[in-house]
Amino acid sequence: MKMKYMVVYSSKTGNTKMIAKAINKALPEESEVFSVQNAPEPNDYDFIAIGGWVDKGMPDAAMQNYMNKIKNKNVGIFMTLGAYPDSQHAKDSMQKARQLLKDNDILCEFICQGKVDPQLIKRMREMTKNNPYHPHAMNEERKARLAEAAKHPNQLDCQNAAEAFAKIFENIQGA
Ligand SMILES: Cc1cc2nc3c(=O)[nH]c(=O)nc-3n(C[C@H](O)[C@H](O)[C@H](O)COP(=O)(O)O)c2cc1C
Repeated sequence: MKMKYMVVYSSKTGNTKMIAKAINKALPEESEVFSVQNAPEPNDYDFIAIGGWVDKGMPDAAMQNYMNKIKNKNVGIFMTLGAYPDSQHAKDSMQKARQLLKDNDILCEFICQGKVDPQLIKRMREMTKNNPYHPHAMNEERKARLAEAAKHPNQLDCQNAAEAFAKIFENIQGA
């Protein structure tokens, strides 16, 4: 029987959508990609790559809602965030996503930086300008991190995401 694959993404400013499309290309030809708002119910699919963006240290709300519907499936998780992908913040965010998918077999995880909405940066700057000790106050470290995030996702991120998912597809097919 032919396996059915789909990629479901939640994306506000396009970063996660870019990764979703790269992953979809790495899956079998008939795999489909949907924004979470248009995604079909997960039950008809054998493998679901589910992705979203990190919002206040959590998978974003739309991604969470969809994840809650997925049970007893083979799944993969992908996320984009402003923080560095090897940071504790990224690890904690992924752990929360994992927890939401605990009734499934998680075959793949991918996380990379994504440019942060300039409107949000502006709001943060205004909110913290009189309080240098605010946890979101602008400082050299934060400036460098946002500048790095502004370069992502890039070609290499897309390639890495595609390769990570292609590998599990090869394993599923080979099993
Ligand atoms: C309201 C809001 C909250 C965010 N919260 C976090 C956060 O807690 N941690 C983080 O690393 N990035 C955070 N970000 C950055 C986004 O996760 C990042 O820019 C992501 O790539 C956006 O993806 P999208 O373009 O698919 O919407 C936040 C962005 C917004 C707009």
